[in-house]
Amino acid sequence: MTRKKRPEDLRSHRWLGMQDLRAFGHRSRLRQFGYDSVDWAGKPLIGIINTWSDINPCHAHLRARAEDVKRGVLQAGGFPIELPAMSLAEIYVKPSTMLYRNFLAMETEELLRSHPLDGAVLLGGCDKTTPALIMGAISMGLPAIYVPAGPMLRGNWRGTPLGSGSDVWKYWDEKRAGNITEEQWSEIENGIARSFGTCMVMGTAATMMAIAEAMGLTLPGASAIPAADANHPRMCAAAGRRIVDMVWEDLTPARVLSAAAFDNAIKVHMALGGSTNAIIHLVAMARRAGVALGLQRFDEISRMVPVIANIRPSGKLLMEDFFYAGGLRALMAEMKELLELSCLTVSGETLGETIAGAEVYLRDVIRPLNDPVSSENATAVLQGNLAPRGCVMKPSAAEKRLLRHRGPALAFDDYNHMAREIERDDLDVTPDHVLVLKNAGPKGGPGMPEWGMLPIPKKLVKAGVRDMLRVSDARMSGTSYGSCILHVAPESFVGGPLALVQTGDEIEVDVAGRRIHLAVSDEELARRRAAWRAPEPRYPRGYGAMFSAHIGQADEGCDFDFLEGAAPIAEPEIH
Ligand code: FES
Repeated sequence: MTRKKRPEDLRSHRWLGMQDLRAFGHRSRLRQFGYDSVDWAGKPLIGIINTWSDINPCHAHLRARAEDVKRGVLQAGGFPIELPAMSLAEIYVKPSTMLYRNFLAMETEELLRSHPLDGAVLLGGCDKTTPALIMGAISMGLPAIYVPAGPMLRGNWRGTPLGSGSDVWKYWDEKRAGNITEEQWSEIENGIARSFGTCMVMGTAATMMAIAEAMGLTLPGASAIPAADANHPRMCAAAGRRIVDMVWEDLTPARVLSAAAFDNAIKVHMALGGSTNAIIHLVAMARRAGVALGLQRFDEISRMVPVIANIRPSGKLLMEDFFYAGGLRALMAEMKELLELSCLTVSGETLGETIAGAEVYLRDVIRPLNDPVSSENATAVLQGNLAPRGCVMKPSAAEKRLLRHRGPALAFDDYNHMAREIERDDLDVTPDHVLVLKNAGPKGGPGMPEWGMLPIPKKLVKAGVRDMLRVSDARMSGTSYGSCILHVAPESFVGGPLALVQTGDEIEVDVAGRRIHLAVSDEELARRRAAWRAPEPRYPRGYGAMFSAHIGQADEGCDFDFLEGAAPIAEPEIH
């Protein structure tokens, strides 16, 4: 370790090391806990930002894991301080955790700024917690290491593995079609979530944890360790040890997060067939880090990196299988000629050094580049008069026949309108229709909920239809699948062209050509635009009003305008 700091250079020294009235107060209140100066003097103070809560099953173990991190911090000669932060349980928080990602990012940044801390360990994993914690840590700029919560164990139903989300949607359609009994449905409810930890398909949680590792923000191999595996607390303690050295080395996120590190993250995202949500989060993180990243970069990289992880929803297996196959180090070693191996990681080593010697143990789980899981790309960015600033799709999780399609729109004004209509037995709909959902974007949802995998109309489900083309300004759960075109920007709520679609309009999609087109004349669209009226704001006051006033569109990463950028903020005055 190369020490770049002396104890008196530590940020916490301003709180604890001075001989003035305020420092007296700070020290005396540490003594109030029962600590003595030997506990803190000359040591890095490490903030452990913990997103544990009683209502987040994905983070149920993080209360205990914080103790493992503390153990490591103490071993390495640091002083650990656990700070609770908003938990964002994807499964419970309504209307959408996306409404609160920036809230947690802001909370993380300000917790780190306002307290006497020299470094941070970030404990998260459930969907939005990863980008939020990282965005806050980037903006604060202290040395920080990310500790992923890890996936839960495989689900199990009568000996068949069950995947979070993906199998819920699958068996729900079978139940709607009358193929599953109530008793069987109840058995699935008992078997699909068997331990603490995040969703165990390649949903948003697993994708974002892997991206954090690919960017160099976790210890090598951390992201795929199952939450219930004894390797997990060992990794937590190792992270606690490592952050203390990182403080002395002054290894900040800015030294790790180069444009090449973001490219590595996108390449890994594509190889995993990762969640479309990651696109929004990566753009937001890049803008915080001062790295220019637009949607086109995802499309370019998607064309050069095949899906090689055979994990649902793009593949067949689950995160536990991925860990046994060698995890992310093995996957990155398999695609190493595509990665920038000189990128620095929080381990102090380059990415190339951290994956040296990694092997694939199970070939059906991690494929070679020349034998991918899908011939389709993981992500396609489409553009056209319906989405002037772009929209995204996951071709690898779609039925091939829909990748080039023209059909009449069946348009819904909002979620409730859609939910009412979709169950009607007399709905005028065919498998060739294109389902369109409006007002589900960042401002309209509000919070851009995961409504983008619109249900197949009941009448068609009963007839055996399992995929249709669907277009919305919403997001989609990373556990979802199907021919869903998402993140249409600008959104309909602010007058994007999606607002002008009417039932019966023809919509054309050509995924290979990266094109989406509303076949309505410019004159007719201009007439509809003149008649369009902006909806009432969603919130009269409160956080929601602030959210609505400052949230960016999907192609901008949905950050708040006042949180973006890399402009430095002065340290707090201590008087
Ligand atoms: Fe927490 Fe899926 S609900 S990761």
